[in-house]
Amino acid sequence: MSNDALPVDSRIQSLLARMTLEEKAGQLGVFADMVRPFAPDVNPETNMRNAAQVLDDVRAGRVGTLFNGVGAAQGRQIQRVAVEESRLGIPVLLAADVIHGMRTVFPIPLGEAASFEPELAERTARATAVEATAAGLHWTFAPAVDVARDQRWGRGAEGAGEDTLLGCAFAAARVRGFQGDDLRAADALLATPKHFAAYGAVAGGMDYNYVEISDGTLHDVHLPPFKAALDAGALTVMTAFNDINGVPASANQALLTGVLRGQWGFPGVVVSDYTADMELVAHGYAEDDRDATLRAFTAGMDMSMQSGFYAAHLPALVESGQVPLPLLDAAVGRVLALKAAIGLFDDPYRSLDPAREADASHLEAHEALAREAARRSIVLLKNEGGVLPLAGGQRIALVGPFARDLDNIEGCWTLFGDRTRYVSLEAGLRAGLPAEASLQVVDGCGLETALEGGIEAAVAAARAADVVLLAVGEPQRYSGEAQSRTRIELPPAQQALAEAVAATGTPVVVLLRNGRALALEGAVRDAQAILVTWFLGSQTGHAVADVVFGGYSPSARLPVSFPHASGQQPYFYNHPRTGRPETPQMSEFKARWREYPNTALYPFGHGLGYGRIEYGPVRVDAPVLEWDGALKVRATVRNVGACMAEEVVQLYLHDRVASRVRPVRELKGFRKLALAPGQSCEVVFELDRGQLAFTRADGSFGAEPGRFEVWIAPSAAAGEPAGFELLQPPA
Ligand code: BGC
Repeated sequence: MSNDALPVDSRIQSLLARMTLEEKAGQLGVFADMVRPFAPDVNPETNMRNAAQVLDDVRAGRVGTLFNGVGAAQGRQIQRVAVEESRLGIPVLLAADVIHGMRTVFPIPLGEAASFEPELAERTARATAVEATAAGLHWTFAPAVDVARDQRWGRGAEGAGEDTLLGCAFAAARVRGFQGDDLRAADALLATPKHFAAYGAVAGGMDYNYVEISDGTLHDVHLPPFKAALDAGALTVMTAFNDINGVPASANQALLTGVLRGQWGFPGVVVSDYTADMELVAHGYAEDDRDATLRAFTAGMDMSMQSGFYAAHLPALVESGQVPLPLLDAAVGRVLALKAAIGLFDDPYRSLDPAREADASHLEAHEALAREAARRSIVLLKNEGGVLPLAGGQRIALVGPFARDLDNIEGCWTLFGDRTRYVSLEAGLRAGLPAEASLQVVDGCGLETALEGGIEAAVAAARAADVVLLAVGEPQRYSGEAQSRTRIELPPAQQALAEAVAATGTPVVVLLRNGRALALEGAVRDAQAILVTWFLGSQTGHAVADVVFGGYSPSARLPVSFPHASGQQPYFYNHPRTGRPETPQMSEFKARWREYPNTALYPFGHGLGYGRIEYGPVRVDAPVLEWDGALKVRATVRNVGACMAEEVVQLYLHDRVASRVRPVRELKGFRKLALAPGQSCEVVFELDRGQLAFTRADGSFGAEPGRFEVWIAPSAAAGEPAGFELLQPPA
């Protein structure tokens, strides 16, 4: 599907001709849906109305979109008021933040990105859309496509990690999944790539903070996932809260009009983030509410969320001539065209079928998909002595505050999950326990506090066991919106538990719960095995059991670098080269920290399985790449282990000399393949100059002739490169 499909047809023209200024401004307003069961506590309570007021607004044509309420039957009531009781009968759009599952909860997007399988994300987004549209929704404020290079920022959990190429692949897949093949189908859910733009680059990793960024980094790192999402057919974009080099993103003409509409030809709708227009006043970028409205609207923000500013000020701004009427009509036309694109004018009651809602409330296929997605998202960081998978017949101690927990299963931004179906670690492990094995479960401590006698009980259980599964990590509320951290470590009470348990000498397998990369310390870092389990969603316990007992060989890879220490942030693998890189021979007067080298403890792309994969040397088919040519890069990978394994083969590139300092490596391709024991496979990637392009010193975008290095490797820190030269363009 392409996104050139928003025709402003005669029906829309005729509506525009009949609408009052107030009705036009009303179509540009997005308000909390207080008529239906509403997701509480996810946004500040600003400008809230009660159900009767919301219905009055719908009746009066003062609102065109409601968000974060659910339910098909009441959705029909709202729509009936819009269609039958409002003057022009324009149907309302019903939106919500459905980020990684609706009733069935899939892994947080960061975890799912670890699968390195965009097609998996497409399937979970499709399932999400089926459930969300059944529950009376047309539009989700997802996917978040922010590139997160600083792990202190809590909203990295909502995106695909620190890499742009991976981010593009997941952005596009999620849009395809949400929207499906036919926007008019009852189960098509409009997607919204967000937050435009550079939200992941907030200074110090503090949410809502300012962004100082070069043009090169903005265009080469942060914008491409938005472009990928739009190319996949997204028809709406949400602005960001942050400013960019002093200009708030939500009033940023250069971005909203220049890049989005001018450069990219985006025909769709730009929606503000929650009260982002109002916040222009707090930013000190607008004098008052009216000025904020003027700046946001004329910059290119079509829809205003929750502030009520557009309804309050746009009519007067048009009457005073400060906002040209054609500009208002264009924005309203886009919103009406969006409604038309999903068939709302032909069938205002689409996606509002209580029978379908009941049918879709619990689908076995989605449960199975949630388990599959969850186990495919688990990353095995280390596995000393092959402690995993657990051999049958062992005495197992499951220790830690997440052992029986059901409150930290879903991860951030899950508003409508069916909690009755969440599977705890204990429940999943018991269900998968081999007949001869035993399982003892001890909490040991709370999420952030010690428990009376907790450590003693945990130590006793560890002593009596052959292996400890140590379920520790971040509480769920540590990641997501407004959850920025200065230290990306375990809460001290959990670290103390880990130290005490490890001191028993019983081998420890860490089951890490996390919404970001963490700085692992002491007994957690030094455990025999570590599984990164993120927040895996409804099927958490079963998915972990699949991996722990060997039913599934872990196949995910880190989409974010795990640093040695918090103080390395922002740390990302594709950082620019310094003039003083550390060498094996010398570390004095080099770019490093006093305590640690400029490396990751576990790099981007790293992850193990139960097989053992060896890489042959990387080979290029020719030493040169013609300007208009293509070059094949190949390597043979072999599973020399005894178990089946899935490997994520990664292609990295480095531009040796350029007009701007280039990253030490950049991911240019990846392929996931299954290898039986003894099986080998030659993996071939093709490169052309398009993949070598970047924002050059003069601001233009393109490749520069010269030397390049290329790796085919199992992580961003592994392998030996081959070289080639990009030749000059023909004269
Ligand atoms: C978040 C958005 C979200 C919106 C509506 C904001 O606080 O930044 O991601 O879509 O609220 O709930």
